[in-house]
Formats: sequence, C-alpha cells, structure tokens
Amino acid sequence: MSELNSIALKIISSGKGILAADESNGTMTKRLDGVGISSTPENRLKFRNTLFTSESMESCIGGVILYDETIKQSVGSNSIPLIISKTGAIPGIKVDTGAKTLSSSKEEKITEGLDGLRERLKEYYKLGARFAKWRGVYTISESYPSKVAISTNAHALARYASLVQESGMVPIVEPEVLMDGVHNSKTCLDKTSEVIKKCYEELEINKVDLKGTILKPNMILPGSKSEEKITSEEIAKLTLQCLKNSVPSEVPGMAFLSGGQSELEATENLNLINVQNNTNFIMTYSYGRALQQSALKHWSKNIQDTKGTQEIFNNRAKMCSLAARGKWSYELENK
Ligand code: 13P
Repeated sequence: MSELNSIALKIISSGKGILAADESNGTMTKRLDGVGISSTPENRLKFRNTLFTSESMESCIGGVILYDETIKQSVGSNSIPLIISKTGAIPGIKVDTGAKTLSSSKEEKITEGLDGLRERLKEYYKLGARFAKWRGVYTISESYPSKVAISTNAHALARYASLVQESGMVPIVEPEVLMDGVHNSKTCLDKTSEVIKKCYEELEINKVDLKGTILKPNMILPGSKSEEKITSEEIAKLTLQCLKNSVPSEVPGMAFLSGGQSELEATENLNLINVQNNTNFIMTYSYGRALQQSALKHWSKNIQDTKGTQEIFNNRAKMCSLAARGKWSYELENK
C-alpha cells in the first residue's frame, strides 16, 4: 500500500469522516455575524479549538481541513496541527484561493490558487498538513455549467492534485455542483456526472495516483428552489448511481460535502447511501455546516461554555459516524 493510499484510508475508514473547518475569514465572518459574535482571530480560534479538543475527535474524525490562519495558530505551546494530531486525526489544509469570475463565462466561476502552490505546499507540509483541499464550484441553470467551466475547473483540480501528491500529501478533489436553482434531481444527476467524469479525465492526463486521493462530491438533490420532492431513499439511489458510473474504481472513497443541507438531512442521506452502498467505495462525510451549525449556535450564547458546546458537537459527530456505517436512525438522535 502506498503512503498516500494509507493516509487517505486513515482519514475516511472505520466510520470516521472529515471536519471541514476551513472557512475563509470572509465565510467565517458571515457565520459568526449570523450568531452575533465578532469575527476576530481570537474568536475564530476559540470556537475551532473547542471542536478540536472534543472527545469525539478520537472516535469520529479522521481528518480536519484547516484554513491558512488556523494552521498557523497555537494554544499555549501547542500548535493547532499538533492539537489535532494528538487526537489521532490528520491535519489538512485548504489551498485554493477562492472562486473568481470566469472571464469567458461571466456568471460562472474558476477556482484560483495554482501560482506559487508548490512553495505553499512545502510550508504547509512543514506545519504538519498531510492532506489538502481544493474546491471547484459549478452552478446549474439552463445553460450552465458550461463546457468552459467544466473543463477549466477540472484542469485546475488536476494540476492542484498532482502538485499535492508531489509534496507528499493526499489531495481532496472537490467539484461542488451547487444546490441553488430550480433544476430537478435528474438534471443534478446528469450535470454532476459530467463534471466528475471530466475531473477524472484530467486527473489521469496529469498522472495523479487515484489511490492516493479522496473525492469530495455533492449528493444528488433537486435544486433548492425546485418543486420536486424526493425521498432520502431516492437521493441515496441517485447519488450512488452517479458515483458508480463516474468514479474510477481505484479511488478509495468519497467524503460528501453538506452543501446547505440541514444537519439532519445530511445525516439521514449519508446513512441511506451507506445502507444502499453496492460499490467498493467508502462513503463518509466531510461536513462543514452539518457538523458545526448547532455547536456554533450554542457557543455563541456563551463562548465560555466549552463543555456544553463540545457535547453538542460530539453528538453530531457521533450521528454522522453512525451514518457513515449505515447504522444511524432517527430515534438515536434524541437519546
Ligand atoms: P459544507 O459541508 O458546509 O458544504 O462545507 C464543506 C466544504 O468544505 C465546502 O467546501
């Protein structure tokens, strides 16, 4: 087993998943403003460190994605990557520099950050990161995602992934097809499949070792403004259909983003994906909002209540971990 394959498996195996705590300062400020907390570096660290020192880190979290600010922060004499590693989880780092307007299709985005990436990766490796994340973002409408958005983002993801492997880390490949829009689940299935297939075409051209990667896909859902209502069983079926047909078998597994689903929806859908999973892929979580939302809300009411915040986070992480093994049920939520 290659070193990169063993890192990837350590992150996503045994019912563990990823805590995505890599919100940029802009996004984190929106989240903190939303609960009435001032977005200072100290407050961002305080909340995040509350999560990183929770009991469930050892049993439920295989990897944590950090933002540039956080990977360089410390609490007392311990760096954040060290605090995370001590729990057995692997520190990771978001390395893209955000999605910018695509010059040839102005309503769409291209993710930037390739310039100087090799040097930044060396620095992050020294700081303790062993995996990285890059997110391409696609919208669905009548004419989108366009061919140019699909091919340029796939190309950037592949060049990123190749550089990350060169630096001894596992790339998380995240092509996120957004939920926003009036489209139905069939369109989400078709567009997501096209996007993912193009990514693997480019990853192969760039000689990325797929065994040492993790895919971070969206689930197949109707658009957030669609009138279509489908069950979680159908969401799971369509999601599996998409991944089975678009992802090469060498990929060890996938860790879904929550993408604006509620904590419960993201948990229930992941559970059914695992109940129905008829592939050899590991299917787990890489949730931001669906792991943090309730904990953040509680914390914002009393930022000194570390224990209460951790209890809420522990429960959420436990539910996600059960879902990653297909062992979650609604009754367990309120026990
Ligand atoms: P959400 O789970 O909140 O979508 O965040 C995951 C993530 O890392 C998006 O890039």
